[in-house]
Amino acid sequence: MIFLKPSNSRFNDFLTELIALRRHLHAHPELSGNEHQTAALVAGELRKYGWRVQEAVGRTGVLAELGPESGPRVGLRVDMDALPVEERTCLSYASRQQGLMHACGHDLHTCIGLGVARLLAAEDKLSGSVRLLFQPAEEIAAGARWMKSAGATQGLDALFGVHVFPELPVGTIGVKSGCLTAAAGELEIQIFGESGHGARPHQSVDAIWVASKVVSGLQESISRRLDALHPVVISFGRIEGGKAFNVIADQVRLVGTVRCLDESLHEKLPTWIEELVKSIASSFGAKAKVNYRCIAPIVYNDPGLTELLERCAFSVLGSENVYRLDKPSLGAEDFAELLQGVPGTMFRLGVAGENGCAPLHSGQFALDERSLVVGIEVVFETLMEWLRVNSKVSKNES
Ligand code: NI
Repeated sequence: MIFLKPSNSRFNDFLTELIALRRHLHAHPELSGNEHQTAALVAGELRKYGWRVQEAVGRTGVLAELGPESGPRVGLRVDMDALPVEERTCLSYASRQQGLMHACGHDLHTCIGLGVARLLAAEDKLSGSVRLLFQPAEEIAAGARWMKSAGATQGLDALFGVHVFPELPVGTIGVKSGCLTAAAGELEIQIFGESGHGARPHQSVDAIWVASKVVSGLQESISRRLDALHPVVISFGRIEGGKAFNVIADQVRLVGTVRCLDESLHEKLPTWIEELVKSIASSFGAKAKVNYRCIAPIVYNDPGLTELLERCAFSVLGSENVYRLDKPSLGAEDFAELLQGVPGTMFRLGVAGENGCAPLHSGQFALDERSLVVGIEVVFETLMEWLRVNSKVSKNES
């Protein structure tokens, strides 16, 4: 059965308002690091509900707190940025910004944060405090770092996160203990050869040929030299080099991404790749330079917190609507950055309607709005339950 109606009656007062807000955000998407209007709207709403609000925490991030200054403190992170994607839905509230779109559901995440904020503010007394992180620039894997270095995770005992998931139907969620998303990096390789006449390649060092050896050598080495039980993906999305059809190229630049589900292996990969690339290049008389930039570590879902979330989701949605995901994703999520030093868990929110849902980052991505209620209720229940459990623990300890 699909869960459609809010079980919390206080919702009825503001659900229409919240849906209008979400549609407004959807029609006015802002790129990573540029979420000025979104952040101002979020901050204004939160102040209206009675939260203590700080703006510009990590550039365009918004941080809000409710509840006592001391005692257990739980957090929720939602992201706010959109993508450089042309919207191709026929929605009445489709993007009004040409070439920009909320194609990853962050507009819904933002409204889940606001809905939870409103429900929490209506509670008589909280047994601990709640902090909301409205994060910018998730799509460029920078916003979590910005907020973290501005102190947004300091003093947090646990952190929850949510992301829409087109593969699950609305009314359901997916949970997973342990590794949820991959560690990711950006790889840049430069090959330096020697130019010459295309008719006499033996008098030069062909950087294009060497680059092709590097690309295939890396793929072969993954299968022959790395443990197949720890998957690694290297994909090049960009290759540039050469000047004319009859001139041997002296330089080629390759840019790609690296994905891996094991943090200790991920740490070793930059050196492994560099040694391999340099040895391939030198065996053909070329030189190579390798740059590796870590984009995000893995999202590791704390088993205890995942179990707590699952329990709350059972009570809200029924156990038949809570899926245990068996596989992690090779996608990356900078929520991982916020989890360095704070235990947490992120769940997947089903958003596919009766006719399914286009994939994330597609111009046709259109989620089922009924998922807003589901997301708010699961998060609200989870935060309240966390506070109940942890205020008991701290009372027993004191
Ligand atoms: Ni996203």
